[in-house]
Amino acid sequence: MYVTRRECFNAAHRVYNPKWSDKKNNEVFGACANPNWHGHNYELFVTVKGNMNKDTGFVVDLRALSVLIKKQIIDKVDHKNFNMDVPFLKGQMSSTENIIVAFWEQLEKPIAKLGCKLHSLKLQETENNVAEYFGGK
Ligand code: NI
Repeated sequence: MYVTRRECFNAAHRVYNPKWSDKKNNEVFGACANPNWHGHNYELFVTVKGNMNKDTGFVVDLRALSVLIKKQIIDKVDHKNFNMDVPFLKGQMSSTENIIVAFWEQLEKPIAKLGCKLHSLKLQETENNVAEYFGGK
């Protein structure tokens, strides 16, 4: 059985390769390379898998999962700048793909302590751009 919790946050970033010129960064990354930053309203979908508990009918207590996601992710990224403020993304390009891999590392072990397994993360950067990750890179 799979259960998904959605959490929302907003954050700023700039996607650019410091080895490249502004012109090349602009060609490759478009508006996301804007030197003076910009933000997105992100939606994070955390899917866990497990067996249903006989007493509750739940795979996981979604309130506990929400508290865990807030502590591990949302409190660290909401209203923050991915390039400057988030220790677990230090030195990495803030593409949706890199962000989601870093989120996985923050969530996998704590979620196992809730008695279920992290199955997938989906991070929606815009209405049209979504990355989904199942672990293992
Ligand atoms: Ni962007």
